[in-house]
Amino acid sequence: MKAIVFNEHGPIDVLKYRDIEEPVLQPDQVRVAVRSCSLNYHDVFTRQGMPGIKVPLPGIPGCDCAGVVAEVGDGVRDWSRGDRILVDPVTYHDGKMWMIGDTLWGAYAEFVVVRAEQLIALPDDVSFDDASCLPVAYGTAHRMMLTRGEVTAGDSVLILGASGGVGTSALLLAKMRGASVIAAAGTDEKCDQLRSLGADETINYSTTDFVKYCREHTGSLFGGGGYDVVVNFTGGDTWASSLRCVKLGGRLLTCGATAGFDPPTDLRFIWTAEMDIRGSNGWKRSDLDQLLELTRTGEFSPVIDSRVALEDGIAAHQALEERRFFGKIVINADASV
Ligand SMILES: NC(=O)c1ccc[n+]([C@@H]2O[C@H](COP(=O)([O-])OP(=O)(O)OC[C@H]3O[C@@H](n4cnc5c(N)ncnc54)[C@H](OP(=O)(O)O)[C@@H]3O)[C@@H](O)[C@H]2O)c1
Repeated sequence: MKAIVFNEHGPIDVLKYRDIEEPVLQPDQVRVAVRSCSLNYHDVFTRQGMPGIKVPLPGIPGCDCAGVVAEVGDGVRDWSRGDRILVDPVTYHDGKMWMIGDTLWGAYAEFVVVRAEQLIALPDDVSFDDASCLPVAYGTAHRMMLTRGEVTAGDSVLILGASGGVGTSALLLAKMRGASVIAAAGTDEKCDQLRSLGADETINYSTTDFVKYCREHTGSLFGGGGYDVVVNFTGGDTWASSLRCVKLGGRLLTCGATAGFDPPTDLRFIWTAEMDIRGSNGWKRSDLDQLLELTRTGEFSPVIDSRVALEDGIAAHQALEERRFFGKIVINADASV
């Protein structure tokens, strides 16, 4: 099959578009012909290598995909060739968590092999492109904003990195709940796009200090200033500053650390504001079921920046890494089944 493969961890040029032998199907596994694979920042981490996570080499990135069942292994009863499906990227077996595009080969490829339990039936009225956006970024945002974050009507919510996959989804979900959203991103153009998506206010943090903006627009901490919820999956230099934007008794939500996982912090802001810092990791199957239904009914529309063919996937991955996109980028493949 054709795939985007890396033989070693490293910068963008370790990725090669080439032929690679398809894995032999094991019992309880299904071979999926990938139709759409949405990109995540996680793909960059997989390519670079992450401390504590052993990625098999050669590796294939791509955690999120939708497609068609191409072949079923022994023991698979509920699925047949031609079924339209969404893949839940994660599976638990042998006492471990496994994820495609991470500890298993991913979906920057014509085919991906998954366990049958990872398949979710895809309704005819949900496109492969839309479905492929749902698991990693949107599923995580769903759990972080609604289950862990308990975002509710009337909350003010500051989202840093609002222009990406998790960010746009966090914005849409907060607006669905009736919250007021202050969306922060790195360019004026992205801020315009965020306002079109429903953001009440935007901050271009490459030209405006977001802590200063918070103080000027909401007032001092003991005067009721700050936001009910601050969402920070960027980490790095933004971490300590974002603590200063949480109002008394507010919540800081995190699910990632794009710019660095061991940033300097400032404990004074945590105790002074009596804030809750809530971590959120991944999604449950119920998050994906709810997102799929919201997408089917049109209440939720994935934000797709662009679609590219598999052979152009390396350039798309580079655009993601260099922040030249808004929402989600989707790779399309069309191997015959
Ligand atoms: N724990 C989990 O289960 C889980 C699940 C999904 C994602 N995550 C994590 O959440 C984070 C966001 O994921 P994503 O897929 O939404 O990423 P993404 O689509 O690439 O969006 C991230 C956004 O953050 C902004 N940003 C700020 N500083 C950045 C930097 N130094 N490098 C790159 N982008 C930067 C960029 O927007 P501007 O250009 O506008 O600044 C970018 O669009 C990642 O760290 C990811 O690993 C965790």
